[in-house]
Amino acid sequence: MVERRPHKANVAGSIPAVGTMKEKIKKIKKLALELAEKAKDSKELENLEIKFLGRKGELTQVLRSLKNLSIEARREIGPLAQRLKKEIEEIFDNKRKDAKYKIQDTKYKLDITKPGKKITGGHIHPLNKIEKEIRDIFLSMNFSVVEGSEVETDYYNFDALNIPKDHPARDAWDTFWIKNPKNSELKMQNSEIKKGNSKFLIQNSELAKTKFLLRTHTSPMQIHYMQTHQPPFQIIVPGRTFRYEATDASHETTFDQIEGLMIGEDVSLANFKFIIEKFLTKLFGESVEFDFRPSYYPFVEPGVDVYMKWQNKELEVAGAGMVHPEVFRAVGYDPYKTQGFAFGFGLNRLAMIKYKIPDIRLFNSGDLRFIKQF
Ligand code: FA5
Repeated sequence: MVERRPHKANVAGSIPAVGTMKEKIKKIKKLALELAEKAKDSKELENLEIKFLGRKGELTQVLRSLKNLSIEARREIGPLAQRLKKEIEEIFDNKRKDAKYKIQDTKYKLDITKPGKKITGGHIHPLNKIEKEIRDIFLSMNFSVVEGSEVETDYYNFDALNIPKDHPARDAWDTFWIKNPKNSELKMQNSEIKKGNSKFLIQNSELAKTKFLLRTHTSPMQIHYMQTHQPPFQIIVPGRTFRYEATDASHETTFDQIEGLMIGEDVSLANFKFIIEKFLTKLFGESVEFDFRPSYYPFVEPGVDVYMKWQNKELEVAGAGMVHPEVFRAVGYDPYKTQGFAFGFGLNRLAMIKYKIPDIRLFNSGDLRFIKQF
């Protein structure tokens, strides 16, 4: 019988005879068995696998050359080669069951039987937690949330709030003063003024006289907001505040406040009382206890403080009152046509009451035993 040679075979070159191929398969089998038996460790076993079954392995070459055979020869040799491949694979697989031959990959060890490691989540700081809750409460009462800068000028922190220079009331807000900015920074400030950015609204002539400070309260944002908006509006302003004062269990140098401002034609003290009652009830629950006491702030008239119980003591949680006509004049509102209330809650103190925190200094302590409880 004449073998029909496929075209490819001619191109590839000589065609192996069936007998030679059978011989070759036999030899490979013998050698593979012998060497597998002698293999001392997983590395040797791996090398053998490459030698026989790798991309250029001896048996792989045989299997590749099948395509050059005639159909008849392929029918005879093909199954032999495939069977040998299976046999060699089985030999290697069986060997690997022995610990000595297990693949030792030092770079990447994966034990899928090990229990998983629990990923530890972060903790929300109690101040962020309560601030979010308070924002949501005021948003539900149709207030907007506004934020402002922590560095202020003495004009916004004091003068515009009816606290003139050298007035003893300034002493109530012990202040961290900031060195005056350099000329280049003043120039930057000037260009912002030209662009009409209200945050930088300091008159040129005033600039040299301006003193900068870390805001001692969030009340300067009342002025910024009123200078750029017309009533009616209702806003809250959460933010960090700073005071140069001795610390104790309820006083910190760095703490947070939430300012509130509601202005219209006839916003009254009764409206203030209603909003504060609603807010505290939503934050602490129906059984919340608090009271209003008369107080003095130069930027309100009349002024009140809000007190709550904390560790069997009375704790002031907010200052508040009806916005003073002088403040309206400072922002260009007509005090005869405008009225409203403002308040400033100490966020840390609200958190101390809500979460039963015994010392305000824990908030900034960085003590994980404290933070992890939230
Ligand atoms: C003010 O800061 C006024 N700006 C509040 C205000 C706003 C009055 C609007 C009228 C109208 P006072 O200094 O009392 O007021 O501070 C307000 C609240 O901030 C206090 O009730 C207290 O809860 C908190 N607070 C004040 N000082 C400290 C401090 N050193 N550490 C922690 N919390 C403080």
